Amino acid sequence: MTYVRDTDPARRPVTLNTLTRMRTAGEPIAMLTCYDSTFAAVCDAVGADVLLVGDSLGNVLQGHDTTLPVTIDEMAYHTGCVARGLRNVEGRAFLIGDMPFGSYQESREQAMRNAVKLLTAGAQMVKLEGGAHMVDTVRFLVERGVPVCAHLGLTPQSVHQLGGYRAQGVTTESAERLKTDAALLDDAGASMLVMEMVPARLATDVTAARRFITIGIGAGLDCHGQVLVLHDVLGLFPGRRPRFVRNFMPGADDVQDALGRYIAAVKERSFPGPEHAY
Ligand code: KIV
Repeated sequence: MTYVRDTDPARRPVTLNTLTRMRTAGEPIAMLTCYDSTFAAVCDAVGADVLLVGDSLGNVLQGHDTTLPVTIDEMAYHTGCVARGLRNVEGRAFLIGDMPFGSYQESREQAMRNAVKLLTAGAQMVKLEGGAHMVDTVRFLVERGVPVCAHLGLTPQSVHQLGGYRAQGVTTESAERLKTDAALLDDAGASMLVMEMVPARLATDVTAARRFITIGIGAGLDCHGQVLVLHDVLGLFPGRRPRFVRNFMPGADDVQDALGRYIAAVKERSFPGPEHAY
C-alpha cells in the first residue's frame, strides 16, 4: 500500500504536533464531542480540529442522569464508530477517547489496560478526570506511549462528591488547589488539560503558567481551545442549560451550518463571551 500525503496543508491529519504548533502560534483549537460515524464526518467537514468521544454520551445518548454508568466497552464501541467515520472520509480531526468512571482509578495497570481498548478502537489520546491522585497514572501511561488529556474543575464523574454540577475553583483555596493539580499533571507529561466550569481568570493563569494545551468549557476565552458537547451546540439537549453553553442553531440553515458557526466562533474568538464565563 502506498501512503500518499495530502498536498493541501489544511486537510493534513491533525496530530499532537499540529496542536502544539497551533498552541504556539495562538491559533484557537476547536473541539467538539462526537459519538458516531455520521457526525464524525460532519464535524470533520466543518473544520473541527479535535473530536472527543466523551463519556457525556451517558447523558446525551443513553439517558442517564450522570456519566457514572458508562462502561469502557461502550466507550470503545463509540470511539470505533467515530474513528471509522473519520477514516471513511479521510478526515483530519484528532481523536480523543474518554476513560469512563471505574476504568482507571483502581491502579495504573488497570488504566493502561483500558487505555489500550480506546487506542485500539482508534483514539489518539485518552482523557481522564482528576488531579494530584491521578499523577502516577498519567506518568505511567505517558511513559508507555499513551498521550493523556487531563480534566480539572467540574469533573462530572465526581458529581456526588462535588455536591452537584457547579463551578469549581471559586474560592482562593480551591483555585490554588487546581493550580497545584495542573502543575503536577503537566510535570507528569499530560499533553492537554480540559478545564470545566472554572473562573476565566483561573484558566488564564493556568494557561499562561503551564506547557500543556488547555481546552476550556466554561473557562473563558484564554484557553488554547474550546470544547462543547455536540448536542448542546445544536440546542438538542432538554433541561436546564449551563451558562457556558451556546445553542448555534438559531439563524443557521442546517446542522452543518450551526456546527460551522461554532467552529468559526471559536477560531475568531467570539465564543465564549463574557456571558458564558464564571
Ligand atoms: O464527556 C465529555 O463530553 C467531556 C467534555 C464535556 C469535556 O468531558
